[in-house]
Amino acid sequence: MLLRSMLFIPGDSEKKLAKAADVTADAIIIDLEDSVAAPRKDAARKLALDFLKSHPLAARRSKVFVRINPLEAGVLGVDLAGVMPGAPDGIVFPKASGSASVDTVSHVMDALEKREGLAAASTKIVAIAGESALGALTLAEYARSKPARLIGLSWGPWDLAADLGASTNRDADGAFGFTYRLAMSMTLLGAKAAGLLAIDTPHTDFKDEQGLLALCKTIRRDGWNGKLAIHPAQVDVINEGFKPTPEEITHAERVIAAFDGLADGVASLDGVMLDLPHLKQARNVLALRDASK
Ligand code: COA
Ligand code: MG
Repeated sequence: MLLRSMLFIPGDSEKKLAKAADVTADAIIIDLEDSVAAPRKDAARKLALDFLKSHPLAARRSKVFVRINPLEAGVLGVDLAGVMPGAPDGIVFPKASGSASVDTVSHVMDALEKREGLAAASTKIVAIAGESALGALTLAEYARSKPARLIGLSWGPWDLAADLGASTNRDADGAFGFTYRLAMSMTLLGAKAAGLLAIDTPHTDFKDEQGLLALCKTIRRDGWNGKLAIHPAQVDVINEGFKPTPEEITHAERVIAAFDGLADGVASLDGVMLDLPHLKQARNVLALRDASK
């Protein structure tokens, strides 16, 4: 699944949900968690289901995910039973803390897919795993257990700071502090070790489009597949930032051509040695080009 841009929409906002029709995001995420105050959770579940039913699977331009509440809130059954009848493409599971937590969510989904006549394991999970201390420390588990529905991992420096009892997640120079950059890298490593998409946390300064574009280009080169968004204006910027540049595409085509017809695992291009990781990287670039057409 191509998930470069995933736009959060607060589940209790009829007005913002109505904007989803104009959105070019690969996915929207109807939020039942942090952007919805406790007294509005029921209203949000109902609006989410209405939205899903009025945008049936075959007619969706963007995939539709629903972010449920974390396990600790004790409303897993209520959240999932509230939205699964609308056949969401996926569930965003916040504050995940390892394979067992994802399995807990997945088992409830098994039962609801059966009840609703949906194909088994057709509803995917993106877990926000690096947003608590335990979540960050259990990121390696997914590579071993490979939970069936899990397709992507993300992280969250604000919830992580709250979990750590920190007063900020920033250094004096304004960048994320070491622990947060570590959690970000561990999310990337955890995702890639398990063959999953790595989806970065949102850029909360939603007016800073130039900064967002530069950030997306940088993290894409590092291997990230997408980024969460909180404002519609971020979507096209993110989609653009996750496209390989023409120079990268030309270089990738030349790398592949350099190996053409060779039986060896090594080739040379412009006086530089290439071996199989270069070929793999070049194929990654062209696969992303083709996926983002
Ligand atoms: N989805 C859909 N529509 C959105 C939107 C979103 N995430 N964010 C803003 N809009 C709409 C606004 O309603 C507004 O509509 P209007 O022109 O008809 O009034 C328009 O886009 C422009 O919005 P703007 O005035 O620039 O922003 P705002 O001050 O209304 O909202 C936020 C700012 C941050 C509150 C809003 O972007 C938001 O709710 N983001 C999602 C928050 C969230 O889900 N967080 C949880 C994950 S971290
Ligand atoms: Mg949160």
